Amino acid sequence: MPSSTGNGMTERRVLSLPNEAATASFANALLERLPPNPAGWTLLLEGELGAGKSTFARALIRAMGHAGPVPSPTYTLIEPYELDRATIYHVDLYRIASPDELHYLGWDELDDGLRLVEWPDRAPELMEQADFSLRLSYEGDGRRAELSAVSGRAAALLEGWPNPPA
Ligand SMILES: Nc1ncnc2c1ncn2[C@@H]1O[C@H](COP(=O)(O)OP(=O)(O)OP(=O)(O)O)[C@@H](O)[C@H]1O
Ligand SMILES: [Mg+2]
Repeated sequence: MPSSTGNGMTERRVLSLPNEAATASFANALLERLPPNPAGWTLLLEGELGAGKSTFARALIRAMGHAGPVPSPTYTLIEPYELDRATIYHVDLYRIASPDELHYLGWDELDDGLRLVEWPDRAPELMEQADFSLRLSYEGDGRRAELSAVSGRAAALLEGWPNPPA
């Protein structure tokens, strides 16, 4: 099985997201490839201010069946969504002062859901627990997405997904 560690091979897909609709269809497509209940999976959302991290998270939460608003977790830090298919935790670490705060926040109890984490670089240890890193950046009027597998199971998923849509 290809892996992002050890053998130097990183499964990665790069794609253009020219508008928000492209971001939403990419989120839908990724969700379709995840297990029916992706509890325990962790997706890190990286990229500078305004890169589109929350837009991607919102699309994924909606694709999972949530109909209401998806407020930014900037102040609450964790927004939980208990949906029929699974629980999702939308986490934003922008405002934490030290990586230790992750544990005070109750991070360790979030393993019963899919964790979407904005600003994961605030707590570097998260990289060891992650399945995917999605790095978003500006590209003209749209965005560029770089999806990298961190875990072995994520690498296997990406290996079977040669051409993600956008
Ligand atoms: N693929 C895209 N193409 C064009 N604009 C986009 C795209 N994705 C998001 N945007 C726009 O970028 C802006 C910022 O989006 P968003 O709030 O998702 O960024 P963010 O990375 O979460 O920012 P922050 O770092 O403040 O949390 C929004 O106005 C959104 O509509
Ligand atoms: Mg955001």
